[in-house]
Amino acid sequence: MRERLLAAEKVKAIEWRDGRLHLLDQRLLPSEERWLAYDSAEAVAEAIRSMVVRGAPAIGISAAYGVVLGLRARLAEGGDWRAALESDFDVLAASRPTAVNLFWALNRMRERLERLKEGETPLAALEAEAEAIHLSDREANLTMAQLGVELIRRVGSRPQALLTHCNTGALATGGFGTALGVIRAANLEGLVERVYADETRPWLQGSRLTAWELANEGIPVSLNVDSAAAHIMKTKGITWVIVGADRITANGDVANKIGTYQLAVNAMHHGVRFMVVAPSSTIDMALETGDDIPIEERDGSELLELGGKRVAADVEAFNPVFDVTPADLIDAIVTEKGVVERPDAAKMAQLMCRKRLH
Ligand code: MRU
Repeated sequence: MRERLLAAEKVKAIEWRDGRLHLLDQRLLPSEERWLAYDSAEAVAEAIRSMVVRGAPAIGISAAYGVVLGLRARLAEGGDWRAALESDFDVLAASRPTAVNLFWALNRMRERLERLKEGETPLAALEAEAEAIHLSDREANLTMAQLGVELIRRVGSRPQALLTHCNTGALATGGFGTALGVIRAANLEGLVERVYADETRPWLQGSRLTAWELANEGIPVSLNVDSAAAHIMKTKGITWVIVGADRITANGDVANKIGTYQLAVNAMHHGVRFMVVAPSSTIDMALETGDDIPIEERDGSELLELGGKRVAADVEAFNPVFDVTPADLIDAIVTEKGVVERPDAAKMAQLMCRKRLH
């Protein structure tokens, strides 16, 4: 299956080329495919903050390359480059708060710096580390896709109706996608009748990005407003809700795009299975429960305006962009280290002791 998955890879959103970070501007999709090039850590932080690049793994990978760009500039400045680089780590860490992959990637880059051996070139070492982070996310996608398909197949070998939320595909990761990777692989195995894609208010990752990725591959997809999800579960024979994650805590609680929590509640009510697909870089064992996860609140204009024009009444908006799904609403968390069914603290701890499966 690995070869078929690799052959099906079409979209890319992150490229490290000629010593620069190239990002596909996700704010313009699907109407325009424009690549932007980045030369500095601050510019990469701004790209993350302003959603040029988004999705937990993609944010982490971009931040890792941001550190490389920061290091190159600090070395050129001369002086105490290690001290100066700290402000690049800080600016990147401040770009978005919820997806832990950002902090995981920055920690990994810092640790690599601390492990530099006598005679090693710092820039080459950090560039190789960022590329390794990028590549290992791609590999994790492939492993998770195969594990997720096995879960779908347990329900039956007929094509199934699936529901997903936000964008978790090639645009959000270093490769094939997390939740969308599972869906793509399931489609290759003839297990997908139709994908129902929540539009994902307010930023519309579902309608602009997920629908675009699925349509590009000829996977049958219907777009629906977020509030149609319960109705669709009841009337369309959905077998699985499949979503990604921005942070998973030690007890198996999952932060993901706002609206995920109500999907899980609705899935439980309708007897629909609920699958979370995320690499282990999304697991934050330092936080006991989801209550400890910082939830990003974005500008109210994302709700109050459409295409730059005010549509709402003259009120203030509350715009939390993530929520936390409690572990007891989740049937399975799929990672590259294996699958945790009915997650709890003991099972999550066991998972984290395992090696990657590939
Ligand atoms: O605000 P975004 O677009 O960065 O949010 C993305 C999500 O919530 C995704 O579901 C999550 O990052 C998983 S991506 C593989």
